[in-house]
Amino acid sequence: MSDNFLALATQRRTIYALGKNLPLAEDEVIDLIKEAIRQAPSAFNSQSSRALILLGKEHEQFWELTRAQLKKIVPEENFHGTSQKLDGFAAAAGSVLFFEDQEVVTRLQEQFAAYADNFPVWSEHSTGIAQYAVWVALAEKGIGANLQHYNPLVDEDVQRTWNIPASWKLRAHMNFGSIMAPAGEKTYMDDDKRFVVAR
Ligand SMILES: Cc1cc2nc3c(=O)[nH]c(=O)nc-3n(C[C@H](O)[C@H](O)[C@H](O)COP(=O)(O)O)c2cc1C
Repeated sequence: MSDNFLALATQRRTIYALGKNLPLAEDEVIDLIKEAIRQAPSAFNSQSSRALILLGKEHEQFWELTRAQLKKIVPEENFHGTSQKLDGFAAAAGSVLFFEDQEVVTRLQEQFAAYADNFPVWSEHSTGIAQYAVWVALAEKGIGANLQHYNPLVDEDVQRTWNIPASWKLRAHMNFGSIMAPAGEKTYMDDDKRFVVAR
């Protein structure tokens, strides 16, 4: 039992080939994502993380909005490749958009002035932890995921389309779905260069 977490941590990978056949009912996936974020720690238990969970057509709409924005900035000759990549993301079952509520960050800065510089940093830590928690929770259920960053390019579209409060700052986007092909090989740097142990 003791190595369950590390087995799961190893199982969590970036999966790009995702499909729409989830091994769980949509409602169970939604509950799983909510609970993973709810249980994630945050500075002063400020719970600054927010999420928009998109499924089916709503998920596809996100990628259409992104495609339209990218069309404005990607050179014509590269756009076909970009568009194909987006088709791959749209093929997933759904996605989670991770936000951090800046209203929470500002309130903490006012309340605890001595730590004012730290709260934005800790908010970034919190979103990273929340993202990882969801990624691992999905992996445990055999659901693949990958992490994308089309913010801030898509921020206004997202805010308008899904009626997201202005104080929610988009930090990352996680596609999830059935695993159509395994993750690629992963290499690891030397422990000697990475860890210092003193005892
Ligand atoms: C903070 C962070 C940002 C990342 N951004 C992207 C991204 O924008 N696009 C992408 O395809 N993968 C992104 N990734 C995934 C990494 O490339 C991936 O986690 C890494 O290569 C290790 O592979 P693994 O996830 O299979 O362990 C990101 C991962 C992290 C932790």
